[in-house]
Amino acid sequence: TGMTTYDPGFVNTASCSSAITYIDGDAGILRYRGYPIEQLAEKSSFLEVSYLLIYGELPTQQQLTEFSDRIRRHSLLHEEMRRFFDGFPRDAHPMAVLSSAVSAISTFYQDSLDPFDSEHVEMSTIRLMAKVPTIASYAYKKSIGQPLLYPDNSLGYVENFLRMTFGVPAEPYEVDPVMARVLDMLFVLHADHEQNCSTSTVRLVGSSNANLFASVSAGVNALFGPLHGGANQAVLEMLEKIQAEGGDVRSFVRKVKDKQDGVKLMGFGHRVYKNYDPRAAIVKKAAQDVLGRMAKPDPMLDIAMQLEEIALADDFFVSRRLYPNVDFYTGLIYKAMGFPTKMFTVLFALGRLPGWIAQWREMINDPETKIGRPRQIYTGSAERDYTALTDR
Ligand code: CMC
Repeated sequence: TGMTTYDPGFVNTASCSSAITYIDGDAGILRYRGYPIEQLAEKSSFLEVSYLLIYGELPTQQQLTEFSDRIRRHSLLHEEMRRFFDGFPRDAHPMAVLSSAVSAISTFYQDSLDPFDSEHVEMSTIRLMAKVPTIASYAYKKSIGQPLLYPDNSLGYVENFLRMTFGVPAEPYEVDPVMARVLDMLFVLHADHEQNCSTSTVRLVGSSNANLFASVSAGVNALFGPLHGGANQAVLEMLEKIQAEGGDVRSFVRKVKDKQDGVKLMGFGHRVYKNYDPRAAIVKKAAQDVLGRMAKPDPMLDIAMQLEEIALADDFFVSRRLYPNVDFYTGLIYKAMGFPTKMFTVLFALGRLPGWIAQWREMINDPETKIGRPRQIYTGSAERDYTALTDR
């Protein structure tokens, strides 16, 4: 119709109103429920931030304790779910396993999936927060042929995830408190980012009144792509490639500028941030701290810093306002922690989970929500008559 606006990628279209996350892309500002990301990263914790995003306010001590106790009580997967992990090939990408398993767990809770029953939504919220780390660890354990570990509910959220991922039944697992703290902080940085591709997906799927598990599973798949969450894996693969080819950073930058074979500088650029990504500044410092603690420094950090320096002094990147985004340095930290490259995007998903849940809940409770149903500009054939198969 004459009213239809053409806006590929929804660059200029607000699909909803939201009270959760505020971004000012020119000023490099990110706030969850009004709180600056810098303060939350430094002072808060992932579960506290999850509570803030989902329920709108920072929890009192008692609210936080109740929230984390409830999550702890639901961290086991249904025993039958364990068999799921046997069905996938060893080298399955853990993001594919994660989205499948998130969809699959809903089959065990079919009586509590009504999107308009607040108790059901509350149960689904807790179940997802509790079980997604268990799923993520199991996906990893299967890929390396180690036994699956049950959660240990005496541990904190991130500690439990680290133990299920890196622990083995034969030995007690000592959680490195610095590693746990840094991972918790990275989860805080990833926890929400308003209407990004995966969150918009969660809302779009949910707008048909699909349940929270179905919607989040779709969000995981949207995050999988290399232009979105998959960028953290792609950054490390890019750094490895540069290193394998002799560490010539300048020639790689030249390839990007020549747009050779669509080569992009992964971890650079952002739809909204046009001066800097405030999360990237925090991650860069954490990367320097974590990697600085290592006995043998990772030469890839050096390559990454050179890339950044060269790109930020180059007109190609400056004129297009391309700066490092959150994914540029995270992979180096995950690698230093011992995560294989394939797990990086799963870590992003663990962090983004409360954001997806909060946005889905806001969507379902918003009286202005309508089913997401964009229009199009039709460019196909005009009307024509069917020709019989024998006449073609
Ligand atoms: N390397 C080289 N050139 C780039 C890059 C890059 N990383 N990003 C954008 N450009 C160029 C792009 O080719 C275009 O140039 P031209 O005007 O000559 O055609 C110009 O900059 C504008 O880019 P765009 O593609 O129109 O911007 P967008 O807002 O549609 O895309 C983006 C944003 C994040 C998808 C893109 O910058 C990109 O592909 N970056 C690399 C992947 C990445 O790091 N993604 C993570 C995003 S942050 C968190 C997350 O979601 O995971």
